[in-house]
Parts: sequence; structure tokens; C-alpha cells
Amino acid sequence: MLDKSPRANPVNVPNDLAAHWMPFTANRAFKKQPRLLAGAKDMHYITVDGRNIIDAASGMWCTNAGHGRTQISSAIAKMAETLDYAPPFQFGIPQAFELASRIAELAPDGLDHVFFCNSGSEAADTALKIALAYHQINGQGSRTRLIGRVRGYHGVGFGGTAVGGIVNNRKIFGSLLAGVDHLPATYDREKQGFTKGEPDYGAHFADELENLVNLHGANTIAAVIVEPMAGSTGVIPAPKGYLKRLREITQKHGILLIFDEVITGYGRLGHAFAAERYGVLPDMLTFAKGITNGAAPMGGVLVRDTIHDAFMNGPEHMVELTHGYTYSAHPLACAAGLATLDIYRDEKLFERARGLEPKFADAVMTLKGLPNVLDIRTVGLTAGIDLAPRAADLVGKRGYDAMVSAFHDNDLMLRIAGDTLALTPPLIISEDQIGEIMDKVGKVIRAVA
Ligand SMILES: Cc1ncc(COP(=O)(O)O)c(C=O)c1O
Repeated sequence: MLDKSPRANPVNVPNDLAAHWMPFTANRAFKKQPRLLAGAKDMHYITVDGRNIIDAASGMWCTNAGHGRTQISSAIAKMAETLDYAPPFQFGIPQAFELASRIAELAPDGLDHVFFCNSGSEAADTALKIALAYHQINGQGSRTRLIGRVRGYHGVGFGGTAVGGIVNNRKIFGSLLAGVDHLPATYDREKQGFTKGEPDYGAHFADELENLVNLHGANTIAAVIVEPMAGSTGVIPAPKGYLKRLREITQKHGILLIFDEVITGYGRLGHAFAAERYGVLPDMLTFAKGITNGAAPMGGVLVRDTIHDAFMNGPEHMVELTHGYTYSAHPLACAAGLATLDIYRDEKLFERARGLEPKFADAVMTLKGLPNVLDIRTVGLTAGIDLAPRAADLVGKRGYDAMVSAFHDNDLMLRIAGDTLALTPPLIISEDQIGEIMDKVGKVIRAVA
């Protein structure tokens, strides 16, 4: 029988890598020693030379149900044959309405409306624009200030970049949006080091919002946006009580609270959304990545009914919100989203993540004591491992070397944020595979000592 595996039939490797300017990539280093992927199934990627790489990153926090889910690819293929494209402005497809209802059903009560876009970045910018527009139509047009958080990541649009707090992502892009301010990060290594789950210390970081209100005036502030767990900066779980306190202060001052759940949505923290885990209801909640298991680009914003309803005024032939994308609620993404939600439900993957969380945390903590490990943080099926920089002027080099060693020498994919290793495997992971990943990560950490 013909062996169709990529190992038997390696994919042709391109002979010229120059034209593709890769995103968020060290292009020159990559092109000297490429990491090229050809296939994926369940917990593994398959490289162009046929190696099986265990995926400790869910691609990029996307493939919560694991790779190569035929239920999703068949749904996409069927939709592509039936309806390739439909205009989302003034026309609709049944699947978009069904998907919105199912997403709203999964979300905490009160978040009842979904605005679709194509990525986490678009979701962040959409939420920020809805916040500004809401205050405008609500007679509070002076509320234009947007507040993010140091070390926050909300994608790469101008809005998301402006409220984001990762310095390297901001500093070469000019003045970004005017009138933005930032809360402090919620991390203190001395007080929180090597914590499993939400640290006890740090709820008071939310109180800084009162200082920003005193500084700027509540009547100038439109919204606060935070990730319930800061992911891209290297996994910083919210301190106990922090999000509740942020909710209380925002509510007191009429400021909208936006949770960016692009990473934490769809099971990463053991619930459909982190808002549920923390019992905090934001005014808006952004999602992307896991909604389609990464199989088609899609993002969106869940919106409180009070905000949505405020727009439903004026002549009925008029567009209520002058915002949207050519590919909002694209048929292929809707098909992928519906099939993905079926899998999450049928395989109880959010519950599975919740059940595995203590074992995962224990396993990651076994890496404590290895060379250069400064801290380990875990929450849900996610962990951040801080390694010491190689030198003051070589920040990020040990992390980069770790990613290279993982891929080339240990058949492991992990994500890095500077010198922090981020582990965030698909929720289908077995206990044995958790052990296998930790063995490999241990080897990698020793290899870059
Ligand atoms: C919290 C958060 N918001 C927004 C984004 C941006 O998403 P995208 O890359 O799909 O634009 C990301 C991506 O990692 C993210 O982690």
C-alpha cells in the first residue's frame, strides 16, 4: 500500500526563502536554519523532513482540540463548495447567526451579542471603537481615553498597539493613539514566584485605576482593556481578586471593562471563558484563535445587551454601527467555528482542561531548580518559565536558543516571549504527553545552560 505520510513523501522545500517577509520572526536567523512544517495531526506537527514534533504551543494558542480534526476540515470543504463568499454588509448567512447564538450561549449571561471580525487584533480594535461610539451616542462624548496595562498584548492594529504594553511592540510605531494610559503589570517575582494558579499577592494592582481616574477624570475615560491572563508577555495569571476589583472600580466610574480573551477563551483556563472562571462580567469580551481551532481566521467581540441596544435607535434603514470587515463572518470561518464548538462540547474539552490543570501544574513545577530557571507560573493548561538572560545585552537570546534546540534537537514546539518559555498544549493532551513535554523542556533548558 502506498505510504502517504509526509515522512515517506517529504514536501518539496522551497529553494528561495527571500520573498516572504515573515511576521514577528527573526527573519535572517530563520532563513539560515528554517523550521518548516508540512502537516499536523492530534498533538503533533510533521516537519518537511518527516519528523514528528510534539506541539506544546497549540500552534499559537489556537488548536485547543488538537490538529487535523476532520470534522472541521470537512465542514470547511463542504461550505467552500456550497457558498464560497457572501457579503456580510446588508446580507447574511444562516451559519453566522447560528454561530453567534452558540457563542453567546457559552458566554456568561448578559454578553448576548457577537460582532465578527477575522483576528484578535481586529477584535481588540473593534471593541475599543464600540466603546468610544457607545459613549458618544450615550451623550458622554468626552469619554475618549483608553486604558491598557503594562505587558498587555492586544494585537497589532493601531488601537491594540496603543493600549498594549509590550515596549518592543510599540516603540518604533510613532505616537499611536492619543489619550491612552496604562495600569501597572500585575507581576512581582519576589512575592509571587513559583505560584500554581492565581497568586495571592497583587489584587491591589487594580487600585491604580483610581489614581488614573484622579489624574484624568472619570468623565474622560471610555474603557479599560485587560487580558484575564497576560499571555504573549510570558504567562502572567491574574492575582486573586484583581479582576473583581477592576470590575468594581470601572463600574463605580462608568468606565467600560473589556476582557481580551483571545487566548483565554475556549477552554484554555478550563472554562469557555475566563470571565466564568473568575465570576466577573465584563462589558465586552474579545475572542479569536480557539473559536475555529485555528483552522480558519476568525475573531469577534461579545457585547453586553445594554451596549448593543443603545445603538438600535434612529431610522431603521440606517446602519447603526459604521464598522465591519469584508470577511466578517466569512462562510468558511463560520463553518469551522460551528464544527469546533461541536467538538469542544462533545469531547468536554473545557472540563478536561480543568481536570488536568493540577497535574499539568505539578509537572511543570518539576522543572524548578534547573539551570537559569528564575520563575515558573501556571494557570489552566498554560505555563510560563522565565529563564535568566544570557547577558544584559543579550536579552531574548537564551529563549531563542531554547526554541531552536526544542525544534531541531528535541522534536518539540514551544513558544517564547523573550527569555520566557510558554507551554500551552492542546486540551486533548494525555498525562503521558504532559510528562513527555516536561522531559523535553528539561533537556532544552539544560542544553541552553
Ligand atoms: C490577548 C491577545 N489579543 C490579541 C491578539 C492578536 O490576535 P491576532 O494575532 O489574531 O491578531 C493576541 C494574539 O496572540 C492575543 O494573545
